[in-house]
Amino acid sequence: MSIAHEETILIVDFGSQVTQLIARRVREAGVYSEIAPFNMAEEAFHRLKPKGIILSGSPAGVPDEGSPRAPEVIFESGLPILGICYGQQVMTHQLGGTVESGSGGDFGGEFGRAFIEISEECVLFDGLWQVGEKHQVWMSHGDKVTEFAPGFRIVATTEGAPFALIADDERRYYGTQFHPEVVHTPDGGKMIGNFVRHVCGCAGDWTMAEYKDAKIAEIREQVGDKKVICGLSGGVDSSVAAILIHEAIGDQLTCVFVDHGLLRMNEREQVETLFRDHYNIPLVVVDAEARFMKGLAGVTDPEKKRKFIGGEFIEVFDEESGRVGGADFLAQGTLYPDVIESVSFTGGPSVTIKSHHNVGGLPERMNMKLVEPLRELFKDEVRDLGRELGLNDQFVGRHPFPGPGLAIRIPGEVTKERCDILRKADAIYLEEIRNAGLYDAIWQAFAVLLPVKTVGVMGDQRTYDNVCGLRAVTSTDGMTADVYPFDASFLTRVSTRIVNEVKGINRVVYDYTSKPPGTIEWE
Ligand code: XMP
Repeated sequence: MSIAHEETILIVDFGSQVTQLIARRVREAGVYSEIAPFNMAEEAFHRLKPKGIILSGSPAGVPDEGSPRAPEVIFESGLPILGICYGQQVMTHQLGGTVESGSGGDFGGEFGRAFIEISEECVLFDGLWQVGEKHQVWMSHGDKVTEFAPGFRIVATTEGAPFALIADDERRYYGTQFHPEVVHTPDGGKMIGNFVRHVCGCAGDWTMAEYKDAKIAEIREQVGDKKVICGLSGGVDSSVAAILIHEAIGDQLTCVFVDHGLLRMNEREQVETLFRDHYNIPLVVVDAEARFMKGLAGVTDPEKKRKFIGGEFIEVFDEESGRVGGADFLAQGTLYPDVIESVSFTGGPSVTIKSHHNVGGLPERMNMKLVEPLRELFKDEVRDLGRELGLNDQFVGRHPFPGPGLAIRIPGEVTKERCDILRKADAIYLEEIRNAGLYDAIWQAFAVLLPVKTVGVMGDQRTYDNVCGLRAVTSTDGMTADVYPFDASFLTRVSTRIVNEVKGINRVVYDYTSKPPGTIEWE
């Protein structure tokens, strides 16, 4: 349970893919925010004593039977409310207006880029937009408001949504049909900033240092005097989670680093140095390579690999926790993108894209509760938190590395031999990236080993060996990504080195796919 902040915005979640982006935009405006699912929003409202409320979008439609509603208490509270997309529609419906389904009639929905025309002044446009101007926004809706509730006026319109932005200044209610929280609405973040500062009256002086303190208090409250075991992956997320938890509860925390044989070159040694020598955090290193390789033998389906690795991890933890004298909690560095991409439509928000190792693989039999202090953060926010905890820039700037490790970079069967080949190619690629001074400009770069053999010629000899794929992307949160445009000379250099230095690879290709439609990892 979290602590009530001086100034909090409550975000009521109706299950949109991008609800967390609302929280992020509010935090960027220097105001603390918390998300509560719509059916727990009333409890959160009383606990948090918010200064204002934002209603999220949803995969549901207001006219659909059983679709979610906002708790009445928020309308009775007299507090400012911003409804976004479904949030606008549900607010309209609950306040006496009309929302029509897109499935009947001529309106088939409005998806993607749209341009709104500003028709009247509004506090949300302060310092941003003037009457008569047109601005880009992002739309994603099938249903729409056809009659607004009493007290509202229209302040902006698009072709598909005559009620693109409606306002009731007296009650301080605002409703946008578009999504101000996504980057494709370029001024949307500032608009949300106007809502929380100018409408809700928040000062906007909240910082990551406060977030850290709040999380530490929350962890202490959740854990009490119990023991926590934390799975380190070697990456930034689990490291930041562990250091934060250690700051909260000291040596009640034991870290377990499972060497599953799917790690990058020298990764295990680096973790040992950081945790044992630098932070003095109790660390158990488990050599589980043989066990993981055995379980992965013959497994080629990506979801099966992920499920196996996730499940096996938890088993190793269970065993280790017994060995260190029992732990009641398992800590993980789960981030928000892992959460939304893993939750199924029926369980609440959005569709399953991949079962992320941190969340999807948890078997029923796991007998520890979870501590996941980074669950509502994006990667760059985790980096800020890491710096706040004293980690240096080089460490917090490390590229993300997925829980299932190299297994999801080896399409087809994973073997120790293939991991060894990939490790060498990956190390060369990253060394060249660092030498070229490009590491920090790239979100994530790694090599992939394809289950394809091709013919080559080396020193007059025919070769028949593996193909190595190189991937490098830029991104701000891992949710979308662009291909990093290396110079041809750079790629040639890396390719030459890999083919010459890594036995088992005779061809190198560069992956030129953005996300979407690709994902960053290959599986
Ligand atoms: P995708 O491949 O889904 O990856 O575009 C988005 C980001 O998430 C990382 N990733 C994972 N991280 N456990 C993790 O901790 C996982 O199972 C996992 N799968 C993908 C990926 O490296 C990228 O940064």
